[in-house]
Amino acid sequence: MCGIVGYIGPDQAAPFLLEGMSKLEYRGYDSAGIAVFDGSKINVDKSVGRLNVLAKKVEMKPLTGNLGIGHTRWATHGRPSDANSHPHTDCTGKFVVVHNGIIENYMHIKEKLIAKGHKFTSETDTEVVAHLVEEYYEGDFEATVKKVLETIEGSYALVFMCQDEPDKLICTKQDNPLVIGLGEGENFIASDIPAIISRTRRTYILSDGEMAIVTKESVWVMNRQGVPVTKKVFEVNWDAEAAEKGGYEHFMIKEIYEQPKAVRETMTGRVEKDNSGVEFEELKWIKEDVTAIKKIAIVACGTAYHAGIVGKYLIENLARIPVEVDVASEFRYRSPLIDDQTLTIVISQSGETLDTLAALKEAKKLGSRVLAVTNVVGSSIAREADQVIYTWAGPEIAVASTKAYTTQLIIMAMLAIYMGSLKGKLPPARVRELCQELRELPNHIYELLEDVEPIKTFAQQYGFNEDVFFLGRSLDYAVALEGALKLKEISYIHAEAYAAGELKHGTLALIIEGVPVIALATQKDVYEKMLSNIKEVKARDAVVIGIGLKGDNQIEKYVDHTIYIPATDKFLTPILSVIPLQLLAYYAAVTRGCDVDKPRNLAKSVTVE
Ligand code: F6R
Repeated sequence: MCGIVGYIGPDQAAPFLLEGMSKLEYRGYDSAGIAVFDGSKINVDKSVGRLNVLAKKVEMKPLTGNLGIGHTRWATHGRPSDANSHPHTDCTGKFVVVHNGIIENYMHIKEKLIAKGHKFTSETDTEVVAHLVEEYYEGDFEATVKKVLETIEGSYALVFMCQDEPDKLICTKQDNPLVIGLGEGENFIASDIPAIISRTRRTYILSDGEMAIVTKESVWVMNRQGVPVTKKVFEVNWDAEAAEKGGYEHFMIKEIYEQPKAVRETMTGRVEKDNSGVEFEELKWIKEDVTAIKKIAIVACGTAYHAGIVGKYLIENLARIPVEVDVASEFRYRSPLIDDQTLTIVISQSGETLDTLAALKEAKKLGSRVLAVTNVVGSSIAREADQVIYTWAGPEIAVASTKAYTTQLIIMAMLAIYMGSLKGKLPPARVRELCQELRELPNHIYELLEDVEPIKTFAQQYGFNEDVFFLGRSLDYAVALEGALKLKEISYIHAEAYAAGELKHGTLALIIEGVPVIALATQKDVYEKMLSNIKEVKARDAVVIGIGLKGDNQIEKYVDHTIYIPATDKFLTPILSVIPLQLLAYYAAVTRGCDVDKPRNLAKSVTVE
């Protein structure tokens, strides 16, 4: 999972490449490099470490020229190092390539090339691609790339440069994203739109197996057989600022504050104006479509998986359809019992998570209809699924997912209401009630974001503890899982989430004096039981922060601190109760001086298994 950029036009390439790469660092940031053609030869500069290390090098020794490619890396084959950074070149330095993905048969190719005398300088799978171009080149760059694509196997987005044909860049993709930005007398290539949005809004989104010849004046797209493909221009309708920090210290806090808007936009046009129901234009299901579903399998990873757990509660309760939830990396290896009567719902912010994509393909193979819930238009998952519902959260840059999660929850809620009403499981009055509550959510989130001082204080007070526990029952347990993940991934505090009733079956042994416990108590039907669990941990001298509903005057008596969330329908509480947990994780990470937006070892889009 890496970020790729390319430029061809009248301007200096290097400044655009560096700027574009800075917008793609969320895709990987352990090393970076650029290659620029100076009029007679291609010069490469690359460096392990964050992009600013490379930027400083380029500042000291500029790379001039109007044609170039760049790459930000997240290591897969070969540790982060200067040598393993992209771009990679062949023995002559005439052929240069950047790559996102994995060349699965690279060892085999490498051995053959070594036998032919090729000298390799890195441990990467990518370098074989540059050497293959050298091996095959007979004066026709395009034909050479086609031949290379016949040889390599695996997943890739690739951009090629050739010193002898400096009027073009060639790019192609398979299972990894690539967009082409269409300019006036210049063109751009990137893994994702934020890299090019400052220069153009007009894009082609490449599909698997497509290859493009990009010159200053033209973009020719074809399939692997060389048959021209007519692409539709995709106009980007979000603004450049949306991909920037917009005055916030970190993308994560900016994205937390964007949640009222993201949630509202995700409901726009879907919750009927008179609150009479939910409509999904993109589905247009009728009663028979829903009654035909005998089972739902939800598959996702990480935070999206946690949204799936909430989805299970909501769909089972409101639509009365049995739901299984699986972590995508487990799903396809457990021989899942799904068939053409199963609806598989895959949830993925990026739409590129390889495990989720593989699960989707497995589900389709088993005959299941697949519905994708994703944030990225034209992403691999969106294209592979039978039907797609987009979360309109806008670009999410911070590695830790926040607004994508709350919009996924909104989709889960709306889907449950939609299916419940189509099936006749929800009386109109109940639908109206739920729709009314849905509409109130953006305002409730604003309210929660208005007063963050107490949460900041808790984070400062407990931010140096090494263990934190999150407890909840039913929907609160699902949110506890997400709260613990947020805290772990950005503050590196060990955090565990427990179904509160399960604690006494082992983990209670870890609750000792001073251990912080975040106890969610927003679910009325299990409220008394939750209070008992709070008493259990208090009896072991834990410090308890309770999350309760406004108007609950009980909880304060049993906990050390309380955070109140606005009262809403019990099925919608996760969309509110997660907000203080996101803030707690954020301020704890800030207190500990962590790199909030780019936590160690993690990347935003996980396109390897
Ligand atoms: C955590 C986080 C990850 C992702 C997971 C799936 O904050 O963001 O756990 O949720 O990697 O990613 P997507 O949703 O892009 O498939």
